[in-house]
Amino acid sequence: MSSSATQNRSSRTPLIAGNWKMNLDHLQAVATVQKLHWTLKDAGHETGSVQVAVFPPFTDIRSVQTLIDADKIPFELGAQDLSAYDSGAYTGEVSGAFLAKLGVGLVIIGHSERRAYHHEGDDVVGAKVKAALKHGLTPVICVGETAEDLERFGGSAVPVSQLEKALEGVPASADIVVAYEPVWAIGSGQAATPAQAQEVAAALRGVLARVLDDDAAARTRILYGGSVKSSNIASFMREPDVDGALVGGASLVVDEFAAIVRYQKHVGV
Ligand code: 13P
Repeated sequence: MSSSATQNRSSRTPLIAGNWKMNLDHLQAVATVQKLHWTLKDAGHETGSVQVAVFPPFTDIRSVQTLIDADKIPFELGAQDLSAYDSGAYTGEVSGAFLAKLGVGLVIIGHSERRAYHHEGDDVVGAKVKAALKHGLTPVICVGETAEDLERFGGSAVPVSQLEKALEGVPASADIVVAYEPVWAIGSGQAATPAQAQEVAAALRGVLARVLDDDAAARTRILYGGSVKSSNIASFMREPDVDGALVGGASLVVDEFAAIVRYQKHVGV
């Protein structure tokens, strides 16, 4: 990894992203986004210092988009998955074209829950990354090792291999986000240590430099995910290669998620 990539940390706007998974119906989604907006406003959160993104279930997206547009709420809207195909006989799938039309800007691809429960391998992840880029969506490419992988190969080997495969055929100019989510840390209450997150994030930035180029490595944001809370976010954000967080459970609790977004204020980095 080139040290210039790490030194450019200040050029990467931190991204705090809430992956709601299969939680909150469209009415709850609207209430949650409204409350989050007002909580951050009341706290004097400076829009632009940290980018905020929410990833609701598909059925909520239209309602959240309407709210964000109407109230000029400065949150990015994301989806949790997309189809590798544009349209056709793929019952139950959602096309990137449809998401783009709804104002979705980001899409999670290769989350470990989809890899595990829906048997999505690196080939499917790669096809979805290309589909996202084709429709102007920014893929949030998730990689991470299981506890068994960690024991056998250390932290970096599996995430590095997953990212290399996901980036095959991706142009260096592509706008992407990478999320390092150790499977053993997701929903377990046992987050990685900041040093573990940094070690893997640095290795992933090395992949970006090698497979894409130095500029891509310097500008691409790498998030940490796995039991992120308001009490540990600042320690991750102090690491030079960690540019934000992909938050699961804690993103469903507005005050807690707002405190994570405001990590610079309430703990000081
Ligand atoms: P938790 O924050 O609940 O551990 O989930 C992390 C995650 O999977 C985000 O995509």
